Amino acid sequence: MCRSRRWATGWRECAPAVAGRGRMPVMGAYQREYDRAANDPEGFWADAAQALDWTRPPRRILDATRAPFTRWFPDAELNTCANALDRHVAAGRGDALALIYDSPVTDTVRRFTFAELTDEVARAAGALAALGVGRGDRVIIYLPMIPAAVVSMLACARLGAVHSVVFGGFAAAELAARMDDAQAKVVVSASCGIEPTRLVAYKPILDEAIALAAHAPAATLIVQRDRQRCSMVAGRDHDWDAALAAAAPHPPVPVAATDPLYILYTSGTTGRPKGIVRDNGGHGVALTWSMGTIYGVRAGDVMWAASDVGWAVGHSYAVYAPLLAGAATVLYEGKPVGTPDAGAFWRVVAEHGVNVLFTAPTAIRAIKKEDPAGALVRGYDRSSLRALFLAGERLDPATYDWAVATLGIPVIDNYWQTETGWPICANPIGLEPLPTRAGSPTVPMPGYDVRVLDPAGQPVPAGTEGAICLRLPLPPGTLPTLWEDDDRYVASYLSAFDGYYLTGDGGYVDADGYLFVLGRTDDVINVAGHRLSTGSMEAVLAAHPAVAECAVVGVADALKGQVPRGLVVVKTGVEIGPDALAAELVARVRAEIGPVAAFQRVDVVAALPKTRSGKILRRTMREIADGRSPAVPPTIEDATVLDALRPVLTAAP
Ligand code: COA
Ligand code: AMP
Repeated sequence: MCRSRRWATGWRECAPAVAGRGRMPVMGAYQREYDRAANDPEGFWADAAQALDWTRPPRRILDATRAPFTRWFPDAELNTCANALDRHVAAGRGDALALIYDSPVTDTVRRFTFAELTDEVARAAGALAALGVGRGDRVIIYLPMIPAAVVSMLACARLGAVHSVVFGGFAAAELAARMDDAQAKVVVSASCGIEPTRLVAYKPILDEAIALAAHAPAATLIVQRDRQRCSMVAGRDHDWDAALAAAAPHPPVPVAATDPLYILYTSGTTGRPKGIVRDNGGHGVALTWSMGTIYGVRAGDVMWAASDVGWAVGHSYAVYAPLLAGAATVLYEGKPVGTPDAGAFWRVVAEHGVNVLFTAPTAIRAIKKEDPAGALVRGYDRSSLRALFLAGERLDPATYDWAVATLGIPVIDNYWQTETGWPICANPIGLEPLPTRAGSPTVPMPGYDVRVLDPAGQPVPAGTEGAICLRLPLPPGTLPTLWEDDDRYVASYLSAFDGYYLTGDGGYVDADGYLFVLGRTDDVINVAGHRLSTGSMEAVLAAHPAVAECAVVGVADALKGQVPRGLVVVKTGVEIGPDALAAELVARVRAEIGPVAAFQRVDVVAALPKTRSGKILRRTMREIADGRSPAVPPTIEDATVLDALRPVLTAAP
């Protein structure tokens, strides 16, 4: 009885009967697959690779000769776009739905079949090729959630070019930094984006970024939107519609499985973003495998990942994975609330027959805040919806419980990172639904050997907190390195513990093998499911002439999970009021990093807590801000400084 009721009730009522992996069905499908991937990784992933079309099928599966730089499918060739589009058309599914663009902010719904999307992408590839883009060239995509975003990503893949999508909420300096690091040849952008309360003029931000960049791209392709058109620079800027109309469709270019498909920049602990590299072969294999087994999505289904394509979830599950699997994907240009109300998600589910919805817990918290009793939820036919997947930040039990009770379907927490590209831990409902536990993203997926280590690199006992690490080699689809920076890849991820990848998260595994993620152990914070670096915000604050020293920590926020809070000490003799300084600093972070930072509060304080050697005690402040009671480090210079900050760190944002 307990098993059949578990999805609707959550795990706790059934816990004694079904809690542990030890009590799960002996050698259930999950355990079988997990063990097979662990004992025979090459056989496991060679089998999974058969789901794709290869222009040169893999004969070697894993190349470990340059460990830790291991590569999957080193001798194979394929084209990711052909696998996502052309092969479904060739298989007679050209009329099946591939992309549904739903835009409440422009009151538009547009549907593309696989045949139509293939044609559009082939012409976009032709337009990029006409601008000189070829295999290996980098293309920056700075676009709102419109079809051109998906089309240009796939067009790059078709050419064997490397795309790098930059989220629209970043400011010009961040865009310029990515242009420079990737040395992009072309940028694809739009005249504007449409937020619920304002228009975001993308083109002036792009123009400013090009002026700032040391390696400015030679050409741009611009989507002119009716709501706000933009001026074009003659000879540099090209109109998207005109370019596609004039372009010859370009066929898919076979590339090495190990060639980069994209670079996705993500926040590290310093101000300089990390260029996460994704290859073609491992990515295609892992995502295709994950669709059926983890998400339970198959050809003909409708998947909706309500995440901007600027983030990893958007790349993997709003674009590539559903299309690789022959499913339709929904591209939603709107918000969970305010476009027009908290029923928007359920309207999209009903209108497009969405089978699987994937979003961030923040989106559900936003909906719950406006529709706590679920009145709007009940107003729509959600019978198509089989499961809700949540990732990108910790899923707090209150949000989990509300979603389970309100939707009455499986609510699946899954844990992963931009670096891994697909879930480290999840509940693989396509393979075998496992009992869920609120607060845990369930168990490691096949290919991931998750270990929790103490500071000496030793595995800790069940239930003990430590650093969440992954034993090398990582499975296909995960980052092979950082863009043109092998040293930083090793220093950031592989040097802490020999033979392990360091996730940067702390947590524990319980006695039954369920992982609990407690939060980052570094200076990365997670704001509304958006990953941000406090280090980059500190760099902006420190550059202000009145600031002597500063710190930025993430503090708990009921809606966004975390929000950044700044603490600054003013230089002696500087005459500036705290409110005026705070306003200037908030404006600077918005202008230099972007509105996505959601940086709204800075407190001017007398001093920051430090060790006797002068190191600012960021970790201790972070833990206090998180509502924990950390031990005061014995090396602290003056404990009264920390005491004075406690009320500031724990005050509501
Ligand atoms: N282009 C330009 N600006 C953008 C933007 C984009 N694509 N996305 C967000 N912004 C701006 C917002 O307009 C806002 O600006 P403001 O300060 O002028 O209001 C700012 O960036 C902060 O945005 P956000 O943190 O998203 O807050 P919000 O109040 O606009 O929306 C939620 C709150 C909860 C509705 C929203 O964060 C959300 O939908 N979150 C889901 C999380 C998600 O998709 N995560 C991806 C990983 S799974
Ligand atoms: P990103 O690279 O933007 O996907 O962010 C990855 C980080 O988000 C992880 O390192 C975690 O800190 C956090 N995260 C993602 N998913 C989860 C989850 N299901 N539970 C807890 N934290 C998560």
